[in-house]
Amino acid sequence: MSEVFNAVKITDKVWWVGAIDWKIRDFHGYLTSRGTTYNAFLVMGEKITLIDTVKEPFMDEMLSRIRSVVDLSKIEYIVSNHAEMDHSGGLNRMAALCPKAEILASKMGVRALNDQLHPAYRIREVADGEKLDIGGLTLEFCETRMLHWPDSMFTYIPELKLLFSQDGFGMHLASSERFAREIDAGVLNYEFAKYYANILMLFAPFIKKTIAKLHELCWSLDYILPDHGPIWEKEDIPWVVERYSNWAEMRPGKKALVVYDTMWGSTAKMAAAIGEGLMQGGHSVKLLPLGGNHRSDVATEILGAGALLVGSPTINNNMFPAIADVLTYLKGLKPLNLIGGAFGSYGWGGEASAHVAEVLEKMGVEMPVEPLRIKYVPTDAQLLECRAFGEKIADALNRKIMQN
Ligand code: FEO
Repeated sequence: MSEVFNAVKITDKVWWVGAIDWKIRDFHGYLTSRGTTYNAFLVMGEKITLIDTVKEPFMDEMLSRIRSVVDLSKIEYIVSNHAEMDHSGGLNRMAALCPKAEILASKMGVRALNDQLHPAYRIREVADGEKLDIGGLTLEFCETRMLHWPDSMFTYIPELKLLFSQDGFGMHLASSERFAREIDAGVLNYEFAKYYANILMLFAPFIKKTIAKLHELCWSLDYILPDHGPIWEKEDIPWVVERYSNWAEMRPGKKALVVYDTMWGSTAKMAAAIGEGLMQGGHSVKLLPLGGNHRSDVATEILGAGALLVGSPTINNNMFPAIADVLTYLKGLKPLNLIGGAFGSYGWGGEASAHVAEVLEKMGVEMPVEPLRIKYVPTDAQLLECRAFGEKIADALNRKIMQN
């Protein structure tokens, strides 16, 4: 295996030595339609440093890439910026292969790695703001707690204006290209947004704090190197940071989502009529039938939305399983500033729409109208009621946007 994979030069002093996972499609519930990368980097100071490792099954690939530029025995430091297993999973093996290397992590990182890996070796804690001279280059550590785990930290190299940002500013995208400018802009935009929505949305307050901290530190940035997806260069960076800032604000936008499932087509008819009402109210509307939309794609659409309407038929006195799935997932991501609505068809009990409304209310979604239920199959008159329901929510959203 050792001669198969090559390192990729990023700058004179930094090599990408990560792994490409073309196959993964489920990343703890997130549909990774385009696979991912586990990025790790070699920094060629006089004391050679490895930044992060990869998911354990990809260690042979990483080791092969490292060996293409340096003997493992020459590595003197291993920095663990993030203790999630897709980056720390290879640490025990790496420590065994590089017995002279000192392993560094944040205070919370040391605790997390000790609990996960039960290492026989010592992991040294580095403080927020601490600097480490690695011979010709400096590593500067910056804690970024809850972006997105308690242990998370960034590592900055001032001489290269280069930031290792672990999961921050990353995306799940397997590609042979290493730089963002080499990748189709539509793919890049979507996967960047999808990653933010599914991994980071709930940490919006910490994102704002981290961006403020980066401004305070006045770090010049020519490169951001995340642990997943492509590398951002100087010209990309203002756009990348601005997108995070805007997403973290979660201001209501003129976009309304109608998420639904259907049993015999009645709730789908209601969704279409409600969508028409929202359109008449001047909004950009997306209908998201759950048969064709994964929970993580629904979460992505929440970015920039101002309204979330959810429709479910009643089954066994409850909402549809796919609706329960997506609501549980969205609730955990804590979207803010949404107007909402619940609807659905039923045969006799009709409890689903009330249950949906209850969950939306618990999520903090404002519900300007009562849930709308229709028995069996909607008539033309009832579809006009559905359209009026959509128009009322559109008006409420317009008022909310005016207030923000
Ligand atoms: Fe890519 Fe939070 O691990």
